[in-house]
Amino acid sequence: MRLIRRSFEIIGDVVVIEIPDEVMHLKDEIVKAILTRHKHVKTILRKVGEVSGEYRVAKYEVVYGHKTETIVKEHGCRFIVDPTKAYYSVKLSGERERIAKLVREGERVLVMFAGVGPYAIVIAKLSKPREVVGIELNPIAAEYFRKNVVMNKVVDVVKVYEGDVRDIVPKLDGRFDRVVMPAPYSAEDFVYLLRRKVKAGSFVHYYTFESANKEGSLPEKVRELFAKHGMDVDIVKIKKCGSFAPYVNRYVVDVVVR
Ligand SMILES: C[S@@+](CC[C@H](N)C(=O)[O-])C[C@H]1O[C@@H](n2cnc3c(N)ncnc32)[C@H](O)[C@@H]1O
Repeated sequence: MRLIRRSFEIIGDVVVIEIPDEVMHLKDEIVKAILTRHKHVKTILRKVGEVSGEYRVAKYEVVYGHKTETIVKEHGCRFIVDPTKAYYSVKLSGERERIAKLVREGERVLVMFAGVGPYAIVIAKLSKPREVVGIELNPIAAEYFRKNVVMNKVVDVVKVYEGDVRDIVPKLDGRFDRVVMPAPYSAEDFVYLLRRKVKAGSFVHYYTFESANKEGSLPEKVRELFAKHGMDVDIVKIKKCGSFAPYVNRYVVDVVVR
C-alpha cells in the first residue's frame, strides 16, 4: 500500500493514482480497496506519465470505469473538469481560497494561466471584485472555463480569453489591482507582460519553483526580476505551496508594486 500512496487524488468521482509496474499484478485488489473506501468513485485513472507540455496535462490509463469528466466542489463552487484533457489540482484549493480572501471589494483582477477557471471563479464567488479576467491557452481547458463561469453564475464578473498570455495581455485595456500568475513553468518569462498592466499598490502573486536550499534567496531574486522589467516591488510574503520534485518546491511570492 505504501508504494501506491505516493500519489492519490480524488477529483469529484474520479480517483487519480500512481500504481508502479511492480504492483500492477495487484491492480484488481487496489481497485477494490479504493471502491470499498470511496463508494462514490466511478472512474480510477492510473498516472503513467508526468505532467508535461504547455498544457500541463499528465498521461493516464483508465483502470476502472469509463468517463473521465467529472464535477468537483470547491469553496461552494462547482467545476466541470477532465484531468486527462486539462490541468486541475485539488491540492491548490487552499491557496485559491487564500488569494480570494485578499481581494478587496471593487478590485480588477487578472488571472493568467487560468486553466478550467478555479482561481477566477473562487475569487468571484468568495469576494466582490469588479472584474476578473482569465486567460487560458489550452482550448479544452478554456471551454471548461466558459462552462464553469456559467454554472457558477459569475458571467457578469468573469471574462474568459482563450489564447496565449503573450498575445492577449498586451491587448487588454487598463491596469489591474491584482495579478495571479500560476505559471506552468518558468514564470520569469512572463513578468515583462505586467509592466503596463499594474500600477502603484497593485499586488502580484508570482508562483515559481525553487530548490528548497535556495528559498532564502527568493526575495532578492524576485525583486531583481521585477526591477529588470521596470517595476519596483516590495515582497509581502513568501509561502511554500507544494513540492514538485525531491528538494524542489513550488512557492508563491506575493509582491506589491511601489
Ligand atoms: C499549472 S496550470 C494552472 C491552471 C489553473 N490556474 C489551476 O490552478 O488549476 C497552468 C495552465 O496554464 C496554461 N498555459 C500554459 N502556457 C500558457 C500561455 N502561454 N498562455 C496562457 N495559458 C497558458 C496551461 O494550459 C495550463 O492550463
